[in-house]
Amino acid sequence: MNDLAGKHIVLGLTGGIACYKAAELCRGLVKQGATVQVVMTQASEQFITPVTMQALSNRPVFTSQWDAREPNNMPHINLSREADAILIAPCSADFMARLVQGRSDELLSLLCLARPIASVRLLIAPAMNREMWAHPATQRNMAQLAADGATLLGVGSGLQACGETGDGRMLEPQELLEDVIAFFQPKLLAGRKVVVTAGPTFEALDPIRGITNHSSGKMGFAIARAAREAGADVVVIAGPVRLATPRGVRRVDVTSARQMLAATEAETPQADVFVATAAVADWRPATESGQKIKKDGSGQPPALSFTENPDILATVARSERAQRGALFCVGFAAESHDLVDNARAKRERKGVPLLVGNIGPSTFGQDDNQLLLVDAQGVVELPRASKLALARQLVAEIARRARPAGT
Ligand code: CTP
Repeated sequence: MNDLAGKHIVLGLTGGIACYKAAELCRGLVKQGATVQVVMTQASEQFITPVTMQALSNRPVFTSQWDAREPNNMPHINLSREADAILIAPCSADFMARLVQGRSDELLSLLCLARPIASVRLLIAPAMNREMWAHPATQRNMAQLAADGATLLGVGSGLQACGETGDGRMLEPQELLEDVIAFFQPKLLAGRKVVVTAGPTFEALDPIRGITNHSSGKMGFAIARAAREAGADVVVIAGPVRLATPRGVRRVDVTSARQMLAATEAETPQADVFVATAAVADWRPATESGQKIKKDGSGQPPALSFTENPDILATVARSERAQRGALFCVGFAAESHDLVDNARAKRERKGVPLLVGNIGPSTFGQDDNQLLLVDAQGVVELPRASKLALARQLVAEIARRARPAGT
C-alpha cells in the first residue's frame, strides 16, 4: 500500500529509550510512500544516532537551529512550512512540558512553535516511565496540548525499560503507522456509530464438531478500520476469525448466529450505520449434543436435522429506526454466479438501501476483491483493489447516502 504517498512528515525524536522504535517507524512511513525529514533533540542522540535515522529516511537529519546548510539559515521555518504533519515519537515528558510553555531554544520545539498551526498538525506519541506518565503535571500538560490543537496518540501498557510495569510505553511502530495513516483520511463519518458483522459463524453439533462457512473476516475488518479512519465510533461483531482488531475499534467476539444476532441487537439501537459482511450459517443443527457423537458400529451415519438461523440483516433492516432511515443498513452478497441479478434480488429481499455483491470463491481469504454496489439508482462497480482500498471507497459511498448525524 502507498497510503502516505505525497505526504511529507517531520519526524521529531526526543530523549527516551523508545527512540529504538522510531527507527522502524521511520522505515514504515517511508514504505507507505511518505517523505520523512528527521529532526532530533540533543537528548535523543544519547539513544540513537543521526546516522541511523539518515540512512532510514534517506535525508540528512537536522539537530540544530544553527544548521548552516539552509541558505537562509532558518531550518525552523523551512522544515515546518514543507510538512503535512509533525510527528513527535518518542515525545518525552520534558518535551511535552516545553511544548506547553512554547519554549524555542532548540530546533524541534522551535519548529513546532513556528509551524503554521492551522495547516500543519502536531501528532504526539508520548513515551515515559509509568510514574512520570501518571503524574498530575504530565496529565495537565497533555490536556493543555490537546486544547492547543495537538493530536495525542496515546500510550501502550506493559513492561517498561526500567523494569516496572504500567502505562507510558510508546505505542508500537505499526500502531503509530496506522494512526498516522488514519489521521490523513477524510473524516466522512465523524460522530457516527457504525456496527459491522464479520467472519463466519460456527454452529456446534457436539463439543467437537460443527458447521460453518468460508470467510476470513478480512473484508469486514477492513470496513471496520476504514470507518474508524473516517472518524466513526466502530464496533465489529466477529465470528471465529484469526485477525488483529483494527486500532480504535471495539470488538465483540461471538460464535453462533444467535449470539451474533443478540450482540447486533444490543449495538444497533444507538448506531447510524450497520454493515453486515458476516457469512452467517443459514442453518444450525436442530439439536446440539452435550457429548461427542460416537460411531455406533452399525456403519450408519447419524441422522442430522437442521433448523434455520435468524436472518440478522433482515431483522435489523425491519427495525423501526432502519425503516425511518435513522439506521442505514448495508448487506453483502457472496455469490458464485449471476452476481448482478442475485444482488438485486437480495437487496429487495433483505429490505436494505444498499447491497454489495462479490463473487465469493474468488475472494475468500484474499487481500483483494472487487465489488458491485446495488442501490435503488442502479449498479456501480468498484474495480479490483485491496480490501482496505475498497473498504475506504465503500465508506465514502455510505457517508454520501446515510443521513447526517443526529437527524
Ligand atoms: N445475513 C445475515 N443473517 C443470515 C444470513 C445472511 O445477516 N442468517 C446477511 C449477510 O451478512 C449478508 C447478507 O445477509 O450481508 C446476505 O448473505 P447471504 O448468505 O449471501 O444471503 P442469504 O440470505 O443466506 O441468501 P442465499 O444463501 O440464498 O444466497
